[in-house]
Amino acid sequence: MKNRIKVGIIGGGTIGTALAHAVVTDLKAFAQLKYLCEKHKEKAAVLQKKFRFHARLVPLAQLVRRSDLIIEAASPKVAAQVIRLACKWNKKVLIMSVGGLLHPQIAELLKKNLARIFCPSGAITGVDGVLAASCGKIRKVRLTTRKPPEALMGASYFLQKRFPVLKTDSEERRVFFGTAVEATKHFPQNINVAAVLSLAGIGPERTQVEIWTSRSYKGNRHEVLVEGDFGTFTTVTQNKPAPGNPKTSYLAILAAIATLKKAFASVRVGT
Ligand SMILES: NC(=O)c1ccc[n+]([C@@H]2O[C@H](COP(=O)([O-])OP(=O)(O)OC[C@H]3O[C@@H](n4cnc5c(N)ncnc54)[C@H](O)[C@@H]3O)[C@@H](O)[C@H]2O)c1
Repeated sequence: MKNRIKVGIIGGGTIGTALAHAVVTDLKAFAQLKYLCEKHKEKAAVLQKKFRFHARLVPLAQLVRRSDLIIEAASPKVAAQVIRLACKWNKKVLIMSVGGLLHPQIAELLKKNLARIFCPSGAITGVDGVLAASCGKIRKVRLTTRKPPEALMGASYFLQKRFPVLKTDSEERRVFFGTAVEATKHFPQNINVAAVLSLAGIGPERTQVEIWTSRSYKGNRHEVLVEGDFGTFTTVTQNKPAPGNPKTSYLAILAAIATLKKAFASVRVGT
């Protein structure tokens, strides 16, 4: 129990709170939750009350400096900020807002530093296969995402484009087609899985992304198609939303817990 690593969590929303809980329960043999950072006063107070026997609230830079492992669960902007600081102090960081990693400056910075970044596979399946396939030649990676309208609301894409007006419950509409770079730029809080998939495979410029919406969709559904020298595979993941947040799939939380568990495991299964 003596050598447990110190964990700091940034963002106390759906994912941050669930991961804080996982650290103090599932991972308590290896890790101790020491620091929390949440910008909203009321949320911060709730978080502090919930984890008062474990962690204290500190400003972001202090959290990064003092923690051995930082968990970012806030936004792509915060992810980029955390990575910059983590590079300064050679920290390990689990990033949830993976879109924040696609900025060319961040990629360059990471090449020259000893900071280590963990990106859970999130709400998609098939990342293990893409990682294996990328050791050979991959010709195509395509993500087709289907989300109910409420899971797309608030995306910056709809500042320029009209939010789709669906006439019937069964109508399906393709709202976006482009690269993973474009998808994460226009839907920064909604399509982290595109960033994950692109980093595992052929990169954000070559990974294709389609986003569909319909009122008939229940939860987020992700279809991954990969073609390469190994052959082809497709995966379909029909997600249930995390309690209280239709934008976040429950599997994304479980994938992050699995990534943390794997980091401490004596036997590591999967690519
Ligand atoms: N990788 C994946 O598969 C995946 C899946 C779902 C969500 N996400 C991403 O993970 C992040 C968290 O998701 P969530 O569902 O918990 O969102 P959420 O909105 O429930 O929580 C985010 C929290 O971060 C806080 N926050 C924002 N900026 C902050 C700052 N500068 N300092 C401290 N706290 C700050 C907010 O106040 C909020 O409480 C989002 O960026 C989301 O896009 C990733």
